[in-house]
Amino acid sequence: MTQQVQSDYLLSATGLNKNFGGIKAVSNAEIKVNQGSITGLIGPNGAGKTTLFNLLSNFIRPDRGQVIFDHQPIDHLQPHEIAQRGFIRTFQVARVLSKLTVLENMLLATPKQTGENFFQVWLNQSQVRQEERENKQKALGILESVGLIEKAYDYAGALSGGQRKLLEMARTLMTNPKLILLDEPAAGVNPTLINQICEHIINWNRQGITFLIIEHNMDVIMSLCNHVWVLAEGTNLADGTPEEIQTNPDVLEAYLGE
Ligand SMILES: Nc1ncnc2c1ncn2[C@@H]1O[C@H](COP(=O)(O)OP(=O)(O)O)[C@@H](O)[C@H]1O
Ligand SMILES: [Mg+2]
Repeated sequence: MTQQVQSDYLLSATGLNKNFGGIKAVSNAEIKVNQGSITGLIGPNGAGKTTLFNLLSNFIRPDRGQVIFDHQPIDHLQPHEIAQRGFIRTFQVARVLSKLTVLENMLLATPKQTGENFFQVWLNQSQVRQEERENKQKALGILESVGLIEKAYDYAGALSGGQRKLLEMARTLMTNPKLILLDEPAAGVNPTLINQICEHIINWNRQGITFLIIEHNMDVIMSLCNHVWVLAEGTNLADGTPEEIQTNPDVLEAYLGE
């Protein structure tokens, strides 16, 4: 991939701070994600990576700091409003609804539908049905592309852990995202499915979706990412190409004792 110009950030955060009681989970952290990139975020356990994701996507409020997405501050927005602008994230432990089918889980992610407004439903039933048909077609198309089509009418609870992670990723595509944050997409996933997930990420990226990925599996980071940020003890330790990061003595030291 060609190097993006420095200012072409889809996401940029500076001076982020979050304390939990006495613990400085995130301390004056910054991160920048180039438009069109697959950017990595690594660091030892407890480094503050998930907390940083929560701050970036406004699942928790920072004590200080600012997040700019698509050239606009998003500090004042709720996570669902941020998702409507094209910025969506997954969770370290996949959040799928076990007692709904795989297809129903996909459909829950659709942006605001006409059918949710009572009067519009009453006035325009055919438009609602048309939207529902289109969303279902879209969901089935995505499930087909990730190899989950056979499971469309199974309960999500019957999926393996890895398939649940894949479903959670597939579901983000229902909202036409510009940026997807993935929290440990390979954790607890078998090697075959990890390879498939990596291929999907590369394909989605080629279709124009930017990624920021937390991952402990260094093979995944090295094979996917254009640029990697390293957090340790809540703060920035380094950032650079995967090759630079792999040979950075400070990074190697931070991982000793892991
Ligand atoms: N909701 C919370 N309440 C209290 N402490 C928290 C909370 N979330 C995270 N922490 C603490 O913040 C630090 C960073 O955690 P986390 O962001 O989950 O790290 P990572 O994802 O890099 O493993 C840890 O010390 C963790 O125990
Ligand atoms: Mg984490």
